[in-house]
Amino acid sequence: MRTQLIFLCISLLILKSESLNCNENNPQGHPSDLRVFHINSPCSPFKNQASVSWESELLQDKARFQYLSSLAVARKSSVPIASGRGIVQSPTYVVRANIGTPAQPMLVALDTSNDAAWIPCSGCVGCASPVLFDPSKSNSSRTLQCQAPECKQAPNPTCTVGNTCGFNMTYGGSTIEASLTQDTLSLATDVIPNYTFGCINKATGTSLPAQGLMGLGRGPLSLISQTQSLYMSTFSYCLPNSKSNNFSGSLRLGPKFQPIRIKTTPLLKNPRRSSLYYVNLVGIRVGNKIVDIPTSALAFDPATGAGTIFDSGTVFTRLVEPAYVAVRNEFRRRIKNANATSLGGFDTCYSGSVVFPSVTFMFAGMNVTLPPDNLLIHSSSGSTSCLAMAAAPINVNSVLNVIASMQQQNHRVLIDLPNSRLGISRETCT
Ligand SMILES: *[C@@H]1O[C@H](CO)[C@@H](O)[C@H](O)[C@H]1NC(C)=O
Ligand SMILES: *[C@@H]1O[C@H](CO)[C@@H](O)[C@H](O)[C@H]1NC(C)=O
Ligand SMILES: *[C@@H]1O[C@H](CO)[C@@H](O)[C@H](O)[C@H]1NC(C)=O
Ligand SMILES: *[C@@H]1O[C@H](CO)[C@@H](O)[C@H](O)[C@H]1NC(C)=O
Ligand SMILES: *[C@@H]1O[C@H](CO)[C@@H](O)[C@H](O)[C@H]1NC(C)=O
Ligand SMILES: *[C@@H]1O[C@H](CO)[C@@H](O)[C@H](O)[C@H]1NC(C)=O
Repeated sequence: MRTQLIFLCISLLILKSESLNCNENNPQGHPSDLRVFHINSPCSPFKNQASVSWESELLQDKARFQYLSSLAVARKSSVPIASGRGIVQSPTYVVRANIGTPAQPMLVALDTSNDAAWIPCSGCVGCASPVLFDPSKSNSSRTLQCQAPECKQAPNPTCTVGNTCGFNMTYGGSTIEASLTQDTLSLATDVIPNYTFGCINKATGTSLPAQGLMGLGRGPLSLISQTQSLYMSTFSYCLPNSKSNNFSGSLRLGPKFQPIRIKTTPLLKNPRRSSLYYVNLVGIRVGNKIVDIPTSALAFDPATGAGTIFDSGTVFTRLVEPAYVAVRNEFRRRIKNANATSLGGFDTCYSGSVVFPSVTFMFAGMNVTLPPDNLLIHSSSGSTSCLAMAAAPINVNSVLNVIASMQQQNHRVLIDLPNSRLGISRETCT
């Protein structure tokens, strides 16, 4: 009902633009750090696209969730999705990548739950992007032939005219048709020759990130797998808040400069869905009480895709219904003298001055207590605050818990595949 009030304060932030620090070339002493920014941040070139309400963010999240659920249960490569509205959230965080020789700069979305990379290419039919990669202007570009080993790793590869390797894939409500291409990729100061990605020739739907996507998943075609000798399957990121007027968010590739003192939990492998980063969430504490959650709601099961993943593309954490209800009920129980209301799709909201309990995710070997900024979302007037989590949407026969970007912001999340672990430490990158 009061959803009109619930907009991010985009206009306010634009007024403040003189004090912005949008200099991308200012790494904090780590030459291979890439600036990461939120797609709607004041520093983002995409920022005029949208002022996003909670409602639409949750709706997009729902579609993203559906998509992830289909990933979790789908057999290899085929990822069908029936999204009624045809929208799926484009990943919300973007980095700069230079492709080709001479370099053509692109701003690609990060997606920790996907492997392939794809870039809209010149001549693309249906690509909404104003920035297209032109392989004919790059002297290091080549289209891969059907016999290339990489062709077998592409999603649904086909051999097309001239014996070139193409692939079709679905991304949320959109489809792309791409040719498998290799070219030089430059990230910060690093040069990656012969990087394999999809050059999009044709696209339908509206859920594709504007200038392409870079998959940071664990499968064979992902950036992480292609750069094994350079980055040793190790990276970390710190996601800034959407309102951050600063480029201090970063993607740090490789084992150098990674935090040494960091809490970690083992990464779990789901052979049926090799791109997702599964962890073992064993419990959730609200205040000092370990909430009573049925074991089955948190259990990892590769056969069904059940379990908990970290995802950079979902905004609000989603828990399977029995887990969410238990957490929410305990959260509400601890707030005396006030009754929860609903607002913009969240069901545990309070107005006025309320003391909120803490929430701790208990992973195997690692407890993470969320600071208020990762736990609560505030209405733009500041008068109402809601628990920024939700149950898995109904109608999605879901078994997946997703630890989403709002809960990861201002933390460094380390993915260390050689040691099969995921680490978390607090870091201010707002
Ligand atoms: C490719 O282009 C770069 C930069 O424009 C140039 O320095 C290089 O010599 C070219 N290489 C070839 C093989 O033509
Ligand atoms: C993609 O699918 C369409 C329709 O099924 C087909 O005509 C086309 O050849 C496919 N392209 C590639 C590259 O697989
Ligand atoms: C890149 O691919 C080309 C063509 O196959 C090859 O000649 C070249 O050695 C490769 N470069 C690297 C660094 O792998
Ligand atoms: C921007 O980030 C730097 C750290 O990189 C921090 O010192 C500064 O306070 C931040 N500025 C704003 C406005 O958030
Ligand atoms: C909360 O709701 C209950 C039941 O409707 C009511 O009795 C109680 O007075 C309400 N408490 C506050 C603080 O509004
Ligand atoms: C996490 O918290 C629980 C409950 O407070 C405690 O029993 C457990 O030892 C903690 N685990 C770690 C790794 O600190």
